[in-house]
Amino acid sequence: MSILVTGGAGYIGSTVVRELVRQGEDVVVFDNLSQGHRRAVAEEATLVVGDLRDADAIQSVFRTHDIDAVMHFASHTLVGESMSEPFLYLDTNIRCGLNLMKAALEHGADRFILSSTANLFGLPDEMPITEETTIDPGSPYGESKRVLERYLYWLDRTRGMTFAALRYFNAAGAAGPNHGEDHDPETHLIPIVLEVALGQREEIVIFGDDYDTPDGTCVRDYIHVLDLAQAHILALRALEDGTSRVYNLGNGNGYSVREVIETARTVTGRDIPARIGERRPGDPAKLIADAGRIRGELGWDPEYPALADIISTAWKWHVNHPDGYDSVDARPA
Ligand code: UFG
Repeated sequence: MSILVTGGAGYIGSTVVRELVRQGEDVVVFDNLSQGHRRAVAEEATLVVGDLRDADAIQSVFRTHDIDAVMHFASHTLVGESMSEPFLYLDTNIRCGLNLMKAALEHGADRFILSSTANLFGLPDEMPITEETTIDPGSPYGESKRVLERYLYWLDRTRGMTFAALRYFNAAGAAGPNHGEDHDPETHLIPIVLEVALGQREEIVIFGDDYDTPDGTCVRDYIHVLDLAQAHILALRALEDGTSRVYNLGNGNGYSVREVIETARTVTGRDIPARIGERRPGDPAKLIADAGRIRGELGWDPEYPALADIISTAWKWHVNHPDGYDSVDARPA
């Protein structure tokens, strides 16, 4: 099978690409390298550098390669940024997704996996969050994913597109000691905490301690990036029966920001100075997944559910590559 992976040079996308090529799949990565890294892309995959805003560029990929299925990771993905730059999300994210869906359907690629998000749920009316929980996005970012999920729903009903919307909770951890998370600028909690442990930053600022949670800091469900990758493989195979699906992907365990910092202190054996700052706009207080549906239907069984294990894999990556992919010796530019 030939699979197009947009954003396949990014943190989660490149991890899934590695797993796909390991399973012998033919993979074409389409990435503008604005956030991704050439060196993160498995050498067995074909890398096309291009931008989804350019409808001709993505059409040309489908003309050149015989694509059966699409995995769409390329996206602006920051909750906080979407509150200050809403059009990057309400316009760009949606336009790019549409350009891709149109090109895919025009060229007969009728299986589509969308990276969706727990930020579909801003103030969830139940916890843990199931696929039936009322959708009420927490930010323009969550809204952009809701719209793309709805477009897929209608393309299923009108054009025979079969899709899986995978709603990630908080992706974390490293796929290996030479393959991990490298954003510029980094905004995510675990990498920032580990940069403090490494002495690259002075402190971690906790964004608010007056939330309605046990210790006042936000609670999230951290899921290892390799477990996310497995969910994509299972979803891709499942789409062969022509049934579209929506799944939540998390461990069902909620950890507060304080608990993450405390666990990182234990894992690294380093002092990690922290202080309380202002709330970050768009942050829901608590997001915990009920992933019972994908466990029951597809047998998904996360291998790294423990927060200490997740942080420990990320720590190995950060220690080995304190400057990220610049020091990774693979896929020379
Ligand atoms: N946080 C801090 N200080 C920091 C960074 C983060 O206190 O310096 C807090 C945030 O306020 C939040 C928690 O740590 O409560 C996790 O924040 P991240 O930025 O690591 O992740 P988010 O929960 O904001 O978002 C991530 C992905 C989104 C995805 C979401 C799903 O970036 O794409 O998880 O829950 F939608």
